This record gives sequence, C-alpha cells and structure tokens, in this order.
Amino acid sequence: MLTRRNFAARFGLAAATARLLPEMAYAQRAAINGSDLPKDMVWLNANENPAGPPPVSLAAMQQALPTSGRYHYQEFREIYATIAKSEDLSSNQIVTGCGSSEVLHTSVDAFTSSTRPLISVSPAYEGPIELARALGRPVILTKLREDYTADVRMLAEEADKAHGGLIYVCNPNNPTSAITTAKEIDWLVANLPANTTLLVDEAYLHFGESPDLKTALPYVRQGKDVIVTRTFSKIYGMAGLRVGFAAARPDIIERLTPLRMNVISIVSARAVVAALGDRENIVRERRASLGHTRRELCAWLREHNVKFIEPQANFIMIDVGRNAREFINTMPRMGVAPGRPFPPLDNLLRVTIGTDPEMAKFRDVFWKVYKT
Ligand SMILES: Cc1ncc(COP(=O)(O)O)c(C=O)c1O
Repeated sequence: MLTRRNFAARFGLAAATARLLPEMAYAQRAAINGSDLPKDMVWLNANENPAGPPPVSLAAMQQALPTSGRYHYQEFREIYATIAKSEDLSSNQIVTGCGSSEVLHTSVDAFTSSTRPLISVSPAYEGPIELARALGRPVILTKLREDYTADVRMLAEEADKAHGGLIYVCNPNNPTSAITTAKEIDWLVANLPANTTLLVDEAYLHFGESPDLKTALPYVRQGKDVIVTRTFSKIYGMAGLRVGFAAARPDIIERLTPLRMNVISIVSARAVVAALGDRENIVRERRASLGHTRRELCAWLREHNVKFIEPQANFIMIDVGRNAREFINTMPRMGVAPGRPFPPLDNLLRVTIGTDPEMAKFRDVFWKVYKT
C-alpha cells in the first residue's frame, strides 16, 4: 500500500506535490479569489454538476455518518462487486480511487517509466500529464487536428517510435468537449504498438449524445491492453465525495492496486452504491436535463454568430475571437466564473453547463464582455 509518507520518500517532494496538483490547479476558485468577488457568483469553471448527489445518495450518507468512526474494511468486497457489476465487470477487473484522479495517477505511475513516455494530445486534461512530468517520465503531446479531435494515428506512431508507452485519450476530451469516435478508438486498440497500454478517461462519457461516442469498456472485457477510468464526480454530481474507478484486465488491476492510497470513504461508498441502485433513471434524467440546457446555449451562440466546438460533455469551448484571458479576468467581477486559459487554444473560453438560471446569467455577462 502506498501511503502519502512513503510516496514522498520514493519519488521525492516534487512528485508528492504532484499528487496535490489537481486540487490546486483545478479548484480554480483559488485563481479567482478575492474579497471583491460577488457573493452570488455563478461557478462555471470546474465542470461540476449543479444537481449534486441524488437524493438516494444523500439519504444513504446520512445513515452512514454516525458509523464513520470505523474503517468498514469488511464491507468493501461487496461495495467493489456492486461497482464492478454496474458495468458488467468482475471485482478483479476494477480498482477504486479517490476520484478518478487517483486511478489515473496510479496508471501513469505503473505504465510509464524513464524510457516509456506518456503520450497524449495538447491540450488534454492535465492531471496525468502533470504527474508524469513530476515523476520525471517523458511526455509527448501531439497536436489536435483542425476539428479539435485527437489524431489516433499520430498517437500510435509516437508510441511506436518510443518502443512503447502509455497513450492517454480523454473521451470526450477536456477542455475541448470533442470526442474520439468509436471507430478511431477501435483502430487504436487494434494497432497499439508493442509495450503500449491505452488509457481512456471517460469522466464525461455520460453527457455525450453523438452516436459515434462509445465506451471503451468492451476492450477491457476482451482482455486488451486498455484501462478505462470513470468517475462519480460528473454525471452523479459527487465531486466532493471523491470516488472513481479504473477498469482493466485483472493483471493490470494487480499492478495498479498497490499504488493507490487505501479504501475510499465509507460515506462516499454508500452514496455511490445507493446511486447505482437507481442508475438508469439518474443517468437518463441528468443526461436529458444537461442536454436540454446545452442545446439552448448552442442555439443562442449560433443566433449570435459566436463560434464554438460542438460539445459532447458538460462544458463547451467558445471561440471569443480574441484572447480569452480578457473574459477570464473580467467575467468573475460581473458574477460569472468561466474556466481557466488552455494554451495553445488562446481564443477559446471553457464554460461549464450550469442550471438554466445560471446559463441565463452567463449569456448576459458573456454578451456584455463580448460586445466591448
Ligand atoms: C477529464 C477528467 N478526468 C478526470 C478528472 C478528475 O476528476 P475526479 O478525480 O473528481 O474523478 C477530471 C476533473 O475535472 C477531468 O476533467
């Protein structure tokens, strides 16, 4: 078991600090802190789900709280089995983590080395990339295509040149909200170079409506060199509860398991199990509600001739036609906090899809800045 203390001893302070990076880098509230910020700020900066945990999960957590003085180790076999079963997997095909961040980190740790790079696109979700860099592992980032999608052939080529490595595909991608199609993932799995593992981060998968977007879990069931990560932070609205999991072949899971911290919180685990009990309804309703709000926003942007990348996640990249930093700096003072900059996509502003009233306020504030 890897504890915080022996992790620091093994990899040095820089690497240990990398463990904390998501908190600092992605809790962007810190970046836009200030006493002059409006109290009723609309936070559209961290791709959270405004619906929060479903009521069944809130009730389960209330019940769990008084018993949280114990570790509850004896319950986890069943909890893991429930999570695995929800995706037609066996318990030995998953490992849970503190959010999907933890299992992304263990994957990078186990499947990259000083000679085996992490290979991804730029920009992609920074968590795995920052960790690889902090561990001193080589990182190769390929360019997105004109339509902001990942070039899977280029990813495979880089892995081939390096004689193996870990290819990280975030699908849908953060920050672009664009997808890698099922056909392209299929090609990539069929053409993985030797010593190469594919890591597919499906944090936002449930929000996608494109028929070309499919989960990579079938490849896990087929025993391919593929790891799929999922999180309860997004569609389930449990970002603060910190639960995610990786799905992979049992021998891959065996390599990841010793690198994780420990079991997850029993309060969070009970919330997850309760949500999985009503999974189909929860996912269907939330997906429909997000889809409705997202379509309205897209229609408004089109009406106003504002370009954007067709979104498949719970956020959208809007082309503001000039450096987006102006919006990032100005909008919070007007009560709406958009995402951070994502170089090299300097003219694009990432905006999380919030509630309908939140998006009404977003449109109002965005338009005032856009018109100036
Ligand atoms: C693509 C992607 N993967 C993983 C994560 C990590 O989230 P969590 O650790 O809450 O599962 C995030 C967070 O925003 C993300 O955008």
